[in-house]
Amino acid sequence: MAQNEQKQAAAQAAIQHIPVGCIVGVGTGSTANYFIDELAKIKHKIEGAIASSDATAQRLKHHGIEVLDLNNINDLPVYVDGADEITEHLHMIKGGGGALTREKIVAAIARKFICIADQSKLVNILGNFPLPIEVIPMARSYVAREIALIGGQPALRQGFTTDNGNVILDIHGLQIMNPVELEATLNQITGVVTNGLFAKRGANTLLLGTDSGVRTIT
Ligand code: A5P
Repeated sequence: MAQNEQKQAAAQAAIQHIPVGCIVGVGTGSTANYFIDELAKIKHKIEGAIASSDATAQRLKHHGIEVLDLNNINDLPVYVDGADEITEHLHMIKGGGGALTREKIVAAIARKFICIADQSKLVNILGNFPLPIEVIPMARSYVAREIALIGGQPALRQGFTTDNGNVILDIHGLQIMNPVELEATLNQITGVVTNGLFAKRGANTLLLGTDSGVRTIT
């Protein structure tokens, strides 16, 4: 199966995990886009969606799926999103598309996080994919220096502004042996809005598209 077919197969499998009549949290990226297209086929069976980015909101609306305000709901049964890297422990690096902050907010509120991915995303150790950090623009240089002190090589994502008006530093050269600890450490740096490690709140289920079908890891 080609990579895009694996993404689509994982997205199709995720539909089985959507309770009838519920509000669905929806991630950002190419795999999440496949999920949105599948969700459109059952839109009459859901109450609406919470979008993790402006791009996702646009795609949902284009399909006629109502996009709700997260502040007006008090229960989100499920969130479906992709990942840039994920381990068998269901710790992830996310934010390749720059939507990490809203993704982390929606993930924090959701009762269940279902990650959908192609097999290239499954890794033993996180860090080969540069770890995205969303930073308040005036703190960019300070945060970069602090990151260098802990052994990372930060690179400003050129010409990119997040939906929240901030910049992204991508940290290269990390081998992340303790994702929970590093996630907390990075959160302590003043000026960091969000880091792309989803470890404290990882996924509950991974639906992994592979050459031999969709593998479920819980
Ligand atoms: C968006 O900011 C990211 O967290 C995406 O979820 C992640 O990059 C996966 O994207 P793809 O599905 O396009 O690989």
